[in-house]
Amino acid sequence: MTIPDFVPVLRLEELPHDGFKAVEVEGRSILVGRIGNQLFAWLDRCPHAGAPLRIGKRCGEELTCAWHGWTFNLLTGSAVPDPAFHLTSIPVKIDGSQVFVSV
Ligand code: FES
Repeated sequence: MTIPDFVPVLRLEELPHDGFKAVEVEGRSILVGRIGNQLFAWLDRCPHAGAPLRIGKRCGEELTCAWHGWTFNLLTGSAVPDPAFHLTSIPVKIDGSQVFVSV
């Protein structure tokens, strides 16, 4: 098993308490955020047809894709109501005052 390499993407104070930011890492856009105490990071690409999810509309834990209206739970990554479709998870962690992801 390989240990993923993490790269710093945000200072902790830049991470929204209720929402996300899109960051670029090695040419990929990634949504990094938190809702309550739950941290998440997803590839910024809708699994339906590839829309950038950052332009979607968020309502609470749910994000609705701007292109065709699929909705995803930002904490689980599952599509609502069909969990067979899922966002691509990106490893994320907080270490000290820095947020890291691994691509
Ligand atoms: S690309 Fe997101 S719903 Fe179609």
